[in-house]
Amino acid sequence: MTGLLEPRAIGRELPRRDGPAKVRGRATYAYETPVEHAAFAHPVQATVARGRVTGVDTSGAEALDGVLAVLTPFTAERLASTEDAELAVLQTDEVAFRGQIVGAVIAETSEIAREAADLVTVSYDEAPHDVELSAGRDDLYAPEKINPAFPTDTAQGDVAAAMAAAEVTVEQTYTTPMQHNNPMEPHASTALWADGHLTIWDSTQGVHHAREATCTVFGLDPVRVRVVCPYVGGGFGCKGNPHAGVVLAAMAARAVPGRPVKLALTRQQMFSLSGYRTPTIQRMQLAAGRDGRLDAIAIDVVEQTSRIKEFAEQTGTATRTMYAAPNRRTTHRLAALDVPVPSWMRAPGEAPGMFGPEVAMDELAQLLDIDPVELRIRNEPELDPLTGKPYSSRNLVACLREGAERFGWAGRDPRPGVRTEGGLLVGTGVAASIYPVNRMTASTATIRYEGSRYVVEIGAADLGTGTWTTLAQIAADALGVPVDDVEARIGDTDLPMASVAGGSSGMTTWGSAVVEAARAFHDKFGHAPGPGDEAHGDVGPPDDGHAMYAFGAQFAEARVDPDTGEIRVPRLLGVFAAGRIINPRLARSQFVGGMTMGLSMALHESGVLDPRFGHVVNHDLADYHVTACADVGDIQAHWVVEHDPYVNAMGSKGVGEIGIVGTAAAVSNAVHHATGVRVRDLPITLDAVLAGLGSRV
Ligand code: MOS
Repeated sequence: MTGLLEPRAIGRELPRRDGPAKVRGRATYAYETPVEHAAFAHPVQATVARGRVTGVDTSGAEALDGVLAVLTPFTAERLASTEDAELAVLQTDEVAFRGQIVGAVIAETSEIAREAADLVTVSYDEAPHDVELSAGRDDLYAPEKINPAFPTDTAQGDVAAAMAAAEVTVEQTYTTPMQHNNPMEPHASTALWADGHLTIWDSTQGVHHAREATCTVFGLDPVRVRVVCPYVGGGFGCKGNPHAGVVLAAMAARAVPGRPVKLALTRQQMFSLSGYRTPTIQRMQLAAGRDGRLDAIAIDVVEQTSRIKEFAEQTGTATRTMYAAPNRRTTHRLAALDVPVPSWMRAPGEAPGMFGPEVAMDELAQLLDIDPVELRIRNEPELDPLTGKPYSSRNLVACLREGAERFGWAGRDPRPGVRTEGGLLVGTGVAASIYPVNRMTASTATIRYEGSRYVVEIGAADLGTGTWTTLAQIAADALGVPVDDVEARIGDTDLPMASVAGGSSGMTTWGSAVVEAARAFHDKFGHAPGPGDEAHGDVGPPDDGHAMYAFGAQFAEARVDPDTGEIRVPRLLGVFAAGRIINPRLARSQFVGGMTMGLSMALHESGVLDPRFGHVVNHDLADYHVTACADVGDIQAHWVVEHDPYVNAMGSKGVGEIGIVGTAAAVSNAVHHATGVRVRDLPITLDAVLAGLGSRV
């Protein structure tokens, strides 16, 4: 247990410190980095989903004025490590998915590079491909672990026996589609080789993580590589683990000595080269007594990975801890397909993994005629069902109660499809949210007194989340000085080691290192430091005596046109229990942003894979719909006061991801309440609703 910091700067609605530079256009993003005499790279992508490159005709491209070099699998430099097949750019003639990089052009301008890339002719020995996920495949396999290192399966008691004996059961299959990270800023890099040293200005969620991958791939000592990233135009997870683009940028820069090279993926390239959320098939089983208490809960997940690299999304982990039930099972099975490599997307695991379970809970509530808020409260566990440990804090019930109060849940008629307003069917739904409190290892902060101010240095990332501001708030309270006297410096491998911004772990990890550095600083210099005095602090290990999670309750109102099936969500309301809120303005932005992305997941987002060719056909923002302003009504995020002395010295839990968790289930449950139509497959589209409405009694 840690002594919590006295919150002075923590808890204040300070505006983001990077805001003025961003709105004035002075914040330099990776692609805009001013470098002398830059060249530009553009990838050539495979047009078959499986096979072998038999030849590359580069003559057309090379004849174009302004082309500096054309790289092919046969001419590109050999990398030191090809262990990570996704990063082994141009190292093999094997094609593992449509869209794979099979060449690249480097030219004087990005326009010439792009035009020349079109003139590169690649011939293939094409092989039959297999890109269709189904639960009935006979080649499904159990991965050794699921992201990042959880057991693949868990089991307690006997779910089958409980299902057979139960008074009420729900047994249904729910699906979520491929979804794609679409930050405003694409993956972009500026790479510069000079005197055997490589500098990459990269749009990344972790400069040290990106450096490590680059060093491995190129066989370089870390002292020879610097990665810089002060600003990120959105990440959501796709800029967490490095993908092929940053390797290609560095490779391209080495191919044109003396020239730095810029590479930005196009929006369409993002759909095959930056990771995506795997589609999931979730078979749910719930067994309960008439009193609504669960006797069994099980989720069996089938999802896809790529043939060349495994990513096993942890879809079932939320179910492991969410509700009390003596009999429990979670399993994960994968199909390795000829598809791009899936990876992280905001709340990998929890976001898709709380869709099936939270719709199933709504189905159970309806069968039992128990209010869905009350049903969840009845299944609150005393201790974490997975580990048997107490929760450091668990305030799901408070979130449900406060959300119900704020949303106006009381007096809701539970019957579906009975309420109309202005010719529209109207309904409301609820779902719960959960997200773990993650703490990464290996992060160090330095605090130095520079005469008039304290400088905090750590190679942390701000992908729009507010790190520039919040780390200064934490340092101010840890040092006991005004926040205006503190300056944070982040986003550069020349600064002390920081973990990747992933799993909503940033504040817990970097913040803890900053607090340790501040304590060391006080121990050495007291309250009257001199210029140049500095101290370091490392993130410590987590408290392992507690299960640590943030919780939330999401409420949605849906309005459905009975003639067209058109769905509108005029209201979303979330109440979260996420520990102490470091900066309410920035945290609200994270919650509301997550909920908006959850709305997008509920109604719009779906990568449509054409099985004939193996690519996502709607690979642009015209056809891959994300929630836009016109889709968003009244979205409110609130939080309960939570005192958690176990999570970290700030008492904070991550807020970047929990907002997306549960939203889609709340919307689906609201659509069911409005229409009587249960949509178990995301996204909830008007045709699915309309088909159900046609057969409605
Ligand atoms: Mo987030 S998907 O952990 O970057």
